[in-house]
Amino acid sequence: MSKRLFVWLAMIVAGGVQAMDAPVGDAQVGANKAIPCSGCHGMDGNSPAPEWPSLGGQSADYVYRQTVMFRDGGRVNALMEPFVVGLSDQDIADISAHFATLTTTPGVADDSPIQGIAGVDDTYANLGQAIYRGGVPAAGVPACQACHGPSGRGIPGAGYPAVAGQHAVYNAARLNFFHSGQHYGNDNDPSTIMVTIAQRLQPVQIDALATYMEGLHRADPAAQAELAAARNESALVPATQALDPADAPVPDMDAEDAADAGADAAPEIDAEPADEADEADTAQPDEDTTAAEPDSDDSNDPGT
Ligand code: HEC
Ligand code: HEC
Repeated sequence: MSKRLFVWLAMIVAGGVQAMDAPVGDAQVGANKAIPCSGCHGMDGNSPAPEWPSLGGQSADYVYRQTVMFRDGGRVNALMEPFVVGLSDQDIADISAHFATLTTTPGVADDSPIQGIAGVDDTYANLGQAIYRGGVPAAGVPACQACHGPSGRGIPGAGYPAVAGQHAVYNAARLNFFHSGQHYGNDNDPSTIMVTIAQRLQPVQIDALATYMEGLHRADPAAQAELAAARNESALVPATQALDPADAPVPDMDAEDAADAGADAAPEIDAEPADEADEADTAQPDEDTTAAEPDSDDSNDPGT
């Protein structure tokens, strides 16, 4: 496996994306501090322009990490910079806590047929869904839901961002940014994993995923919990997709569960097109001794 993936795996095992000590945020104080942000990100967390990301319901850990990077130079955007340069860590924690209390309203995925691409006979929404749920095994692309969650909530404790309802234009811009080889922060930054993934995606697949995520509904945690209790919990995860139950949208997942979920998901990335799955199997000891579900590598086995 590449050095980058190895470092990434080691980070997940060490406890997910969150490596920094964020101050505890106060959402009420944050509501006032977030007013300057709201012109672009929306008073209710839904941004009015498709190039600007909605932040409603985004995990506070993720918003904190990104905003600190905008302030300190790990992520660069000319529009953002003047608004964040003067913020303290505490300001950012408060603002992040505020946005986490809001909700992003899902849009509608483009279900029109993809035309003019040889070998593709599908709509954008269907193609996007297939990749989001099952990856592209032949190209070594893992299922997006392994880290961003079946309903697009992300895995807050592990710092994986929510993507449900996010503007397609913004999603495509991010995926193209990663596809071009760029990432945030230094060479060990968590976002480097998306470079590996996005570089294996074709342009039409990026467009399909971008619009699918805009239409993806992030059920609120309480509703998910009720659903899970009412049905069999595993019913929330499509049968074709072998996911650790910890990946299902369970509310208030603690950091340890989230790290487990990430660790279970991570070896999938290592499924290089020509690789046997063995390496992935041994790369990460399966800590989930209660796992009764099929090996998660099977779903992405390129089928040698
Ligand atoms: C003038 C418009 C504007 C204002 C005001 C603004 N932002 Fe942004 N923000 C953007 C744009 C544009 C992006 C996308 C940047 C990129 O493409 O990397 C962004 C991205 C972000 C992201 C990353 C979201 C993600 O999903 O990765 C965070 C977090 C964020 N802004 C927080 C803030 C905070 C906090 C404030 C207020 C202190 C703020 N922004 C004010 C325009 C703005
Ligand atoms: C192994 C975990 C993992 C998998 C699998 C994964 N992602 Fe990501 N994704 C991440 C991480 C980590 C980040 C960046 C987090 C950060 O910068 O703090 C990210 C960021 C993103 C972003 C930017 C979000 C934002 O608000 O700016 C998008 C869009 C995205 N991923 C889409 C996808 C798609 C589409 C797939 C499937 C083809 C996918 N991801 C698969 C871990 C993953």
